[in-house]
Amino acid sequence: MSRRRHLLSLRQSAPAVLPSLLLCDFANLEQEVRRLEQAGVQALHLDVMDGRFVPNLTYGMPIVEGLRAVTDLPLDVHLMIANPERYIEQFYRAGADIITIHVEATREPAALLRQIRDLDCGAGIAFNPDTSLEQIEGCVEHCDLALVMSVEAGFGGQSFQPVALDKLRAIRGMVRDEVLLEVDGGINKTTVRQCVDAGAQLLVVGSAIFRQPDYSVAVEDLTNLACPA
Ligand code: DX5
Ligand code: ZN
Repeated sequence: MSRRRHLLSLRQSAPAVLPSLLLCDFANLEQEVRRLEQAGVQALHLDVMDGRFVPNLTYGMPIVEGLRAVTDLPLDVHLMIANPERYIEQFYRAGADIITIHVEATREPAALLRQIRDLDCGAGIAFNPDTSLEQIEGCVEHCDLALVMSVEAGFGGQSFQPVALDKLRAIRGMVRDEVLLEVDGGINKTTVRQCVDAGAQLLVVGSAIFRQPDYSVAVEDLTNLACPA
């Protein structure tokens, strides 16, 4: 079955809160996944950092594979690595459903997005707060998802940068209707609604879930704020 089917289900369940697996309890990863499944999340956002593109080091294919083995939730893999072209095929084989590259990390973003799509995965393009929209103009036609960073990529627990709201509004006019708009960094009960009003469909959340005692309550509160009845 095509992994790209998840793009449609995410569009249909938007706005959706996606947990970012960075501040979770890696000593009990399967348990964490069960708690997130019980909280009713639509997908898992995986933060892959290489210590080169960003000044932090997290995890790679083995964690993606391990998660693939214990859940059917879509895996939304956020690559914060230099030369992502070297690893696309391996993340695909590890079980990624959506692979997002940073426009600042490669000279050929359009070609890479096409390669990801040819693997039948969802293809995402991400860009940092200081990166202008002009930089993604040449590749947005090849993406299924645009990830607007609302913090400088590299760490959880940072403060939300409001410039992301202007970018969300602007990028909606640059991409096809079916392109998913994702925002990542500093999303919490104060900022979640502003992001949805600016056009965000996927809201990546780290500390506002994983620093809470009850993940279900945290996800429910954020979801209720994101889409009030
Ligand atoms: C940062 C990552 C984010 C981060 C979000 O580079 O891409 O996904 O984990 O964490 P919070 O919600 O704590 O900012
Ligand atoms: Zn992320």
